[in-house]
Amino acid sequence: MDLYQSAKEEIKRAVDIVELIGQFVQLKRAGQNYVGLCPFHSEKAPSFSVSPAKQIFHCFGCKQGGDVFAFWMAYHQVPFPQAMRDLAEKYYIALPEGQPGRSSRGEAAQREALLRVNETAAQYFHQVLTQTTKGKPGRDYLQSRFVPEDIIASFRLGYASEEWDGLASFLEARKVDLEKAAQAGLVIARKSAGYYDRFRGRVVFPIFNMRRQVVGFGGRVLDHSLPKYLNSPESPVFQKGELLYGLHAAHGAIREKGRAVIVEGYTDGLALHKHGFCEAVATLGTALTREHIRKLKGYAKEAVVVFDADAAGKAAALRSLPLFLDEGLSARVLVLPENEDPDSFLNRHGAKAFLGLLEAAVPIFDFYLDLKMTEAGNRIEGKVEVLQEMIPLLLELKNMVQRALYVRRLSERMGIAESWVLAEIQKTSAHPSGERREQRLGEGFPQAGARKADDRLLLGLFVHHPGVIEQFVERHLNRLVSDATILRILDLMVQDARREGELLPERVLETMSGDPAAELLREAVLSPPICRPDEVEQALNEFEDRVHKMRISESKKQALGNIEEANKIPKLIKKRWG
Ligand code: GTP
Ligand code: MN
Repeated sequence: MDLYQSAKEEIKRAVDIVELIGQFVQLKRAGQNYVGLCPFHSEKAPSFSVSPAKQIFHCFGCKQGGDVFAFWMAYHQVPFPQAMRDLAEKYYIALPEGQPGRSSRGEAAQREALLRVNETAAQYFHQVLTQTTKGKPGRDYLQSRFVPEDIIASFRLGYASEEWDGLASFLEARKVDLEKAAQAGLVIARKSAGYYDRFRGRVVFPIFNMRRQVVGFGGRVLDHSLPKYLNSPESPVFQKGELLYGLHAAHGAIREKGRAVIVEGYTDGLALHKHGFCEAVATLGTALTREHIRKLKGYAKEAVVVFDADAAGKAAALRSLPLFLDEGLSARVLVLPENEDPDSFLNRHGAKAFLGLLEAAVPIFDFYLDLKMTEAGNRIEGKVEVLQEMIPLLLELKNMVQRALYVRRLSERMGIAESWVLAEIQKTSAHPSGERREQRLGEGFPQAGARKADDRLLLGLFVHHPGVIEQFVERHLNRLVSDATILRILDLMVQDARREGELLPERVLETMSGDPAAELLREAVLSPPICRPDEVEQALNEFEDRVHKMRISESKKQALGNIEEANKIPKLIKKRWG
């Protein structure tokens, strides 16, 4: 076994897949396995399954799955060598020198270079802020905004001084490629030659990913000049629509409290952390996206979204409702008093007052309804429009109790009978949108489906009762399998059992890595056994019977035409000779 193979094995031994995935997805025990909401596609009922015994995961919805490496690669969107390095580092496992595939993967190398230059810059800005005289304006500014030293240290805040080449010459002295720094948006190429700093005279907020790597920066001016904030440009490591400021530090508290508080600004997020609301995260000056919500769903049972009282804040709250419903994360809205943001409110009124607001935050649905009803006023047409707008949203609610409660709320607020709202809902769901109809159409191919289900049953028997292999081979049951892919997997399992003396489905899965057919086997491994050990024989017999019957009925059908012809013969004979 080569060195990488053994390092890979060691990582597999060291990492428990339930513990690892549990850091990113809320998992609940369900029989042998753990289940949760899939982080790779949008869903409201958990079809994401993790097996502690087999150390694999599989989503019955989107079919993503595999071992710890597959999870890390998909979740963090990194190639295999990167996943291996990350996990080795996380679990204190030494990797052999000269790492695999480093130079061959342009994209990974590019990401790594960006991360490295960001890290160096973060160290520079932080050092300027905390240890130099030119950092004094930054220190004074943060003090004036009541940002304490422990927050400065833990969030690694920094200061970019007024000079034009502070960072550029620091990087140059460390032999950092300034071209890379330019790609990271830290320096800008001069027309003549050389580079100058992009962040100048600003306090700097490094932005971290979940692995606590610096992926970008936000920089705020100290006065009223514009732009107030300057952010790193989007790059392979910095995507504002996916990142939440502070999540790296907040996820534990979010999990513990069951709640995430979402604010709009870096300073707001920090103020919340300072006042003990460590479940706070901030968007990066963009609207809340589906990806944000999906990330949070892994930790939070609910989100409290804090919006400014102004029109823009309310509009943002309204836009996020369908996303929350669609992703199935309950959300409440906290609207601050006029002319306050979380930072100013907390520093003026303290944590207790904020907690009061937090606890009084209204469910986002009610918030939406209230705003819409106020807009509609007493106009009948206005109310009808509100109803039309609410119904698709109600249909998004999978939880029927919740839906019933909202139907009641809606009818009360509109002053019409519940039965009318329900009738409207029925009308809409009877004529689903094109998208929904398509989904339904895809469901049925009964004949082929039945055969395939039988083939899958065999997969399940193999995986949970490897003893059947002997019978399968002896009785030549492979002749009865109609699905070529399943047949191939069964063959692989037979070979594995022959070679190793005993079938280990995980081992077969490993040999199939990269093969799209692996998802069928993974699904079988993660599905509960279909029968008890003492029922296996019977299941096998039934399989044989069913397939035989199906074949007979198929050949009957084919022959039927001929038989009808044949039946006519005696009559014909009679006619002629009788
Ligand atoms: P402070 O004034 O420092 O308290 O900031 P704030 O967070 O209260 O500011 P504001 O509510 O104006 O902005 C909220 C968030 O929007 C900021 O944290 C930034 O992420 C983003 N933002 C604000 N102004 C700008 C800007 O001029 N340019 C960019 N790119 N982003 C901005
Ligand atoms: Mn503010």
